[in-house]
Amino acid sequence: AGNITFTMIKPDAVADNHIGGITQMIEEGGFRIVAMKKTRLSEERAGKFYEVHKERPFYNDLVKYMSKGPIVAMILEKDNAVEDFRALIGATNPEQAAEGTIRKKYAKSIESNAVHGSDSNENAQIEGDFFFAADERF
Ligand code: CMP
Repeated sequence: AGNITFTMIKPDAVADNHIGGITQMIEEGGFRIVAMKKTRLSEERAGKFYEVHKERPFYNDLVKYMSKGPIVAMILEKDNAVEDFRALIGATNPEQAAEGTIRKKYAKSIESNAVHGSDSNENAQIEGDFFFAADERF
């Protein structure tokens, strides 16, 4: 059985009609969508989601950015999901993202970088639980 990771399509990518393009790259990359929803984070919820970054200089801007419009949250399943998904999305800074990655194609800046991807198995569980109940996973 595969393990899981968590992703969000960020507000600019949703606003620019890239839900389909990004989801296609995810499925063609061998990931199975276990759970999916379009929703909007309040500033308070975005602040909680990114709590691990609260001492970083970019935290306040990140929280404002992530709450400015709807996002699409997903739990994804694949063998080696966390690491393979980070390879599929590419570097946080799109200027450093490799050809063929989601961020190379869709990111506009380090903040508006199209998608989030969990950085560990532990955070994938925490982040998936933040958005999805047991009966929303298939
Ligand atoms: P994400 O994978 O969602 O995790 C944390 C986010 O913080 C990251 O993507 C970027 O969007 C943002 N981020 C990371 N580093 C910086 C930075 N130096 N300046 C602004 N935003 C950043």
